[in-house]
Amino acid sequence: MTDQKTFYITTPIYYPSDKLHIGHAYTEVAADALARFKRHQGYDVMFLTGSDEHGQKIQRIAKERGVTPQEYVDKIVDGFQHLWQTLDISYDDFIRTTEERHIKAVQAIFQRLYDSGDIYKSEYEGWYCVPCESFWTEHQITEEHICPDCGRPVELVKEESYFFRLSRYADRWLKYVEDNPEFIQPTSRRNEMISFVKQGLEDLCVSRTTFDWGIPVPFDPKHVIYVWIDALANYITALGFPLEDQSKFERYWPADLHLVGKEIVRFHTIIWPIMLMALGLPLPKKVFGHGWLILESGKMSKSKGNVVDPLVLVDKYGVDAIRYFLLREIPFGADGYYSEDALIKRINSDLANDLGNLIYRTLTMMNKYFGGVVPAPGSEVAPDDELKRVAQEAVTNAQAAMDRLEISTALEAIWDLVKRANKYIDETAPWTLAKNGEMERLATVMYNLAEVGRILAVLLVPYLTTTPGRIWEQLGLTGSPADVGWDAAKKWGLLTPGVKTHRGAPLFPRIDLEKEEQTVEEQKQPAAEASKPEAKSAQQDKISYDEFAKVQLKVAEVLVAEQVPKSKKLIRLEVAIGEERRQIVAGIGKSYSPEELIGKKIVVVTNLQPVKLMGLESNGMLLAASFPGEGEDRAISLLTVDRPIDSGASIR
Ligand code: MSP
Repeated sequence: MTDQKTFYITTPIYYPSDKLHIGHAYTEVAADALARFKRHQGYDVMFLTGSDEHGQKIQRIAKERGVTPQEYVDKIVDGFQHLWQTLDISYDDFIRTTEERHIKAVQAIFQRLYDSGDIYKSEYEGWYCVPCESFWTEHQITEEHICPDCGRPVELVKEESYFFRLSRYADRWLKYVEDNPEFIQPTSRRNEMISFVKQGLEDLCVSRTTFDWGIPVPFDPKHVIYVWIDALANYITALGFPLEDQSKFERYWPADLHLVGKEIVRFHTIIWPIMLMALGLPLPKKVFGHGWLILESGKMSKSKGNVVDPLVLVDKYGVDAIRYFLLREIPFGADGYYSEDALIKRINSDLANDLGNLIYRTLTMMNKYFGGVVPAPGSEVAPDDELKRVAQEAVTNAQAAMDRLEISTALEAIWDLVKRANKYIDETAPWTLAKNGEMERLATVMYNLAEVGRILAVLLVPYLTTTPGRIWEQLGLTGSPADVGWDAAKKWGLLTPGVKTHRGAPLFPRIDLEKEEQTVEEQKQPAAEASKPEAKSAQQDKISYDEFAKVQLKVAEVLVAEQVPKSKKLIRLEVAIGEERRQIVAGIGKSYSPEELIGKKIVVVTNLQPVKLMGLESNGMLLAASFPGEGEDRAISLLTVDRPIDSGASIR
């Protein structure tokens, strides 16, 4: 246990001034993926988050609401913890700055800094931004007295204060940052910080007397400690520094990674390291400033009224879909846009079509050709070698990307394997192998596909929290993919032949953007509806022959086919059924072009009541097979007759 490598990762502790939104969830989900990745690789991980509960801003809000600051923060922090549980955030500790363990430790730290002469008493006169809890000098603010960070007005404050000697450490800081290029990342933020410090560092005002919602200065209790000194210290007070048992501190400090949003990089890379230097403690190995998740109307904030509630999204789309979107959509470090359309597109293309479909097709064929039992593979034939190579590359590339904190690149690397495996199905065409009786080759193909499923389950553990286990279970494996560790993805062939798979519902149901057409389709296509997972039990209910005989099925010949204007899916058909001509409107436009339909002999239900679709009467329904979860382009296959027969022929 003791020689196990450790990984200490932190996220900022959040202000309980607002309800948390999807932007906050972004930081937390990213940190969670990194923490899970390291655990999966065998590290002893310490993942810390928490809440930053002091300061003038909180005191003002509580007063406005007629409650004590403590009552106010207690309620909001409960909400934070509920959100993190909903998003499956696997933090090891949650620190609240109003906890006794933190308050006492911060006071001890302040005392040490005072004793060493790094904190001294003087008078402060200057500018303060209440929402940001930031002090600014005259030359940092514009003539309009606007906060350079948030653009809101700053206040002139004058009071007796304690100061922290930042100026004493400027040269040491510059040398450290220049000698340790990895310390501040990405490089653009490092360069910003270097030029900020090169302009000169002034001592920082670290106490206030005009309000009292904070930690009292131990030797002068009419002062409360500046909220950023209080907050930054959480990264070591949570480890018990300096008053409690020091074993955690010794084990995990210095932190491997402080993950923070770009607007608080300055506090984490200048004030915090200088506090540590003054305390004689080692500096964190890396501070990474990620970008913001923004809406078209700008950065999310309660005052702008443009916040997106992650709880609502999880309820609607599921936790793995939200986690996947946050991790995949935006290159980590850059700003990126959030929209529900973009979220749905990701769910449909990457999760439903690519991943869900691969697993569903694999297990459907496993059932069909081998009674659900994974067969032993035979000899290797192209393109097996390429599939194996892509699997190995997915592991290596995902690992390298995670080590560079490029989470979206890691997911792209994993999806290279998902896509290659789908292509492998198309190339090897298991249905043709089955038809031709090439059972040994079919066994190899099916084994390889199941093995890709196993590897994917292992690779997805850091990012998705329920899907890897579901894949594992469907493959008939025991335990969980998190237990076997990342290295289990590196080895090809760990899946034991003979294992009985259990195909379940598709992993991710598709979400239809074209709701109107979807509703129409549901009315029109009871067959497709019946293949949805929730309709499975109804499908098992037997009907009598008489009931079946009520449905009149006939062969029809397509005479005319044209796209319905303003619809991507609907096609207007004129068909001949014997002597009779009819108009049928069908939702097959994403799978068939009008040209290829003309002349086809298809199967039609002739005794359905007519319906109107986009203003056109549809008199009958054509039959088509659809594969649940399949891509739109290949989802539908029309039923046709396989020998020449005249239209109008009855089907029984
Ligand atoms: N309390 C301070 C941190 C103290 S750490 C010692 C704070 N809290 S915060 O609640 O305002 O923000 C917490 C984190 O959420 C920050 O890293 C911030 O960048 C992040 N985000 C807030 N809105 C965000 C987006 N719209 N997009 C991405 N991250 C966002 O700052």
